[in-house]
Amino acid sequence: MNILVLNGPNLNLLGEREIDVYGDKTLKEIQEYTEGALHSFNVKTEWKQTNHEGEMIEIIHDFRHSKNDALVINPGAYSHTSIAIMDALKSVKKPIVEVHLSNTTKREDYRRTKLTAQAAGSIIEGLGKDVYLVGILSLIINKGLWK
Ligand code: DQA
Repeated sequence: MNILVLNGPNLNLLGEREIDVYGDKTLKEIQEYTEGALHSFNVKTEWKQTNHEGEMIEIIHDFRHSKNDALVINPGAYSHTSIAIMDALKSVKKPIVEVHLSNTTKREDYRRTKLTAQAAGSIIEGLGKDVYLVGILSLIINKGLWK
């Protein structure tokens, strides 16, 4: 199974930014941790990060016909604002899991607006760096069951 892990704006600053909220690990360290934890599974992950809405949309379009079988996406703040990314995700016929390091439901009211998650099969949040691992494991467990 091949999985694309797509990260949105400001996630390149993990490890420096609001450590009390997002933890002290960089995105690269989270990638290494996640890949290490998955070593005994037959799964390959490809990690991308962009700060640009249009680029996220292009990556999602390319993903539709790529070798990747499923998408784990942390859209960052675009989760709460981007109809365009939600529409791009709605065009995807492969499984999508949305993840957030923090529990957005118990933060500011504006983070309770969840647009992109409406196009995902599942949302996993509030487990810190483990949301990526749990998201990928959920795709492995559910392989074949997703629409
Ligand atoms: C985040 C939550 C978003 O509300 C925020 O804008 C982020 C990170 C998370 O992983 O907890 O940038 O997606």
